[in-house]
Amino acid sequence: MTKRPNREVDASVILSLAPMEGITGHVFRRVHAECFGALDRYYTPFLTPLKVGDSFGGRDRDEIDPANNRGLDVVPQLLTKDADDFLRAARSLADMGYKEVNLNLGCPSGTVVAKGKGSGFLRNLEDLDVFLGEICEKSPIPVSVKTRIGVTDDGEYEQILKTFLRHNIVELIVHPRVQKDRYEGKPRWETYGRTLREAPFPVAYNGDVFCLADLDAFVQAYPETHHVMLGRGILANPALARMINGGSAATREELRYFHDKLFGAYLDEMGGNAVFRMKEWWFYAKFAFAEPLAVHRAVRKVRKVGEYEAAVERIFCNMPLAEQAIFRA
Ligand SMILES: Cc1cc2nc3c(=O)[nH]c(=O)nc-3n(C[C@H](O)[C@H](O)[C@H](O)COP(=O)(O)O)c2cc1C
Repeated sequence: MTKRPNREVDASVILSLAPMEGITGHVFRRVHAECFGALDRYYTPFLTPLKVGDSFGGRDRDEIDPANNRGLDVVPQLLTKDADDFLRAARSLADMGYKEVNLNLGCPSGTVVAKGKGSGFLRNLEDLDVFLGEICEKSPIPVSVKTRIGVTDDGEYEQILKTFLRHNIVELIVHPRVQKDRYEGKPRWETYGRTLREAPFPVAYNGDVFCLADLDAFVQAYPETHHVMLGRGILANPALARMINGGSAATREELRYFHDKLFGAYLDEMGGNAVFRMKEWWFYAKFAFAEPLAVHRAVRKVRKVGEYEAAVERIFCNMPLAEQAIFRA
């Protein structure tokens, strides 16, 4: 097997970008790929299939419009507990040329969980079993699943895994936290390891891989790993995947160029609301700078495009970069 240059990670390991609602949509994917090189695969933030018409409306339609995803390997993600809605959406995705559809069983948001969707679906394994049976059998394109390992404690995973093992899932992406953890605490690597051992289908890992050392430690512990999904790590360090592939860290000029392209693309898409979209990005991107708190303060209160541009100018002109851009919870 060939290793990536100077890394423990085998060259065949797939790196994908995590779905992050409000952040890693089509604009981010395209600009990031242009500036730092494409990842092997991308997952759209969750889309909620409509009950009528052709399943997707408004923003969701832009998200999956093939013209917005050209040249990238994109897997649309659906959030639903209704098999008919899932299948209708999967059929339209297949018609658009998508080769896989992903089911969200991880979203921890209170409103989603209360409706029995996302990680809330893990509470109701009998229904989940029937649902997976229907969608895996009837979907015109293979179904992958992104899951948490339970709602309140990891003891639930025993039955959850048994449920998954009964179905023809093309890949299971495990974020080894329970819903109640949100994004806190250490991901339970051992539940991923157990899934790898027991599942007949490919298993991917997601959670808290923020730097090269995190990834090296992970693949040393689980050398059979074939796919790692990166989320906040890429937002804090947009060059993370490039560095994993043996490339260099982002320079100030590259970061500025990336920022300006991203902001420009959001301005084209949503006008002045681009400022709010960028502030969400800065929540993670501030860790590229030596003093994330100072960056946070610089953008926190801005509302108007002009104020925002002035704040960004101050950040890029005056604030030193961190020695290592790394997300910190
Ligand atoms: C703001 C935000 C939005 C997210 N949106 C989604 C989503 O739409 N679908 C999904 O499966 N996971 C979503 N996630 C979870 C991420 O995909 C990922 O599982 C999580 O960030 C852990 O990976 P990381 O430690 O590499 O960031 C979201 C996470 C955050 C912080």
